[in-house]
Amino acid sequence: MRVGMLTGGGDCPGLNAVIRAAVRKGIQHHGDEFVGFMEGWRGVLDDVTMPLTLETTSGILHRGGTILRSSRTNVKKIPGGFERCLEVMGEHKLDALIALGGDDTQSISLALSERGVRCVGVPKTIDNDLSGTDACFGFDTAVGIATEAIDRLHSTAEAHNRVLVVEVMGRDAGWIAVTSGIAGGADAILVPEVPIDIEEVCRLITYRREHGKKFSIVVAAEGAKFPETGQATQGTSVDSFGHARLSGIGQALAEEIERRTGYETRSVNLGHTQRGGTPSAYDRMLATRYGVAAIDLVHAGKFGRLVVLRGTEITDIPLADAIAKTRTVGQDLLDVVKGLQPKNG
Ligand code: F6P
Repeated sequence: MRVGMLTGGGDCPGLNAVIRAAVRKGIQHHGDEFVGFMEGWRGVLDDVTMPLTLETTSGILHRGGTILRSSRTNVKKIPGGFERCLEVMGEHKLDALIALGGDDTQSISLALSERGVRCVGVPKTIDNDLSGTDACFGFDTAVGIATEAIDRLHSTAEAHNRVLVVEVMGRDAGWIAVTSGIAGGADAILVPEVPIDIEEVCRLITYRREHGKKFSIVVAAEGAKFPETGQATQGTSVDSFGHARLSGIGQALAEEIERRTGYETRSVNLGHTQRGGTPSAYDRMLATRYGVAAIDLVHAGKFGRLVVLRGTEITDIPLADAIAKTRTVGQDLLDVVKGLQPKNG
């Protein structure tokens, strides 16, 4: 078969591992040929490709980013975009397309599936919020980076008796914040799922100070917000899928905490550091399993589907189910956070 591949949306560690695994299994076991489209859907629209062979995908397992590069190109916003995609894929005589991406990328895969393209999706988002799968590759690496940063911030916070607010990624779901916050022993963890209760945050900090602790760590997801305001953004521009550039809740929190408690407070935004660099062993493994499963789905003739992790098993679900809603942090984990904190009242 001739199979196209692309990576869309924000990059995350493990993309190369998926590409390598699908190409290896496809070439060595199915006799496939691969075409790599550069920079997500833009590469399809502009017909910019690279060959994906055993040679071009060798030595990339441990590398972050994506050899196919990425973009947030929204085919729906481009007049004649879908027709152009069909034309280019036809010229390449593709039998199938494997798209690695989150809900935005998969919404294009779904639209193309409905136009007859034989698509298979692989779930990718550092935020880990894609519905229908228990895990997206890249998340474990991001949590590792955030946890290490929190560990490091402990000593400098302690040296200065400071409150340190750490802003991590997580647009609509606080998976990175909750996981790295628990792993890093944060005093307060703020997520998009629950409006910020600033009085409670200050109570937690003050309680610990009154019980001997000289410093405090607060972890906030970039999408966390005060009840009375929207999400903190950098500028007013939005990307082609309508997403604002989130940033600044950490600094806003730091200012408010210092004003209310009198404790010197600093903020750190970990930003894209969480998406860069080498994937963890867990993510390499998950990504490899997804890559193999994706090419196997193609050969099983199961299209319009997304490979997913359910428990410890790799299976697949309809693309439509994956993009129907955001997978947010459940009450069970939020209760773990609460259980570690001093009781209110
Ligand atoms: O959707 C994943 C994500 O990493 C979000 O957490 C973040 O808001 C966004 O992408 C940032 O993306 P970029 O700066 O690449 O546009």
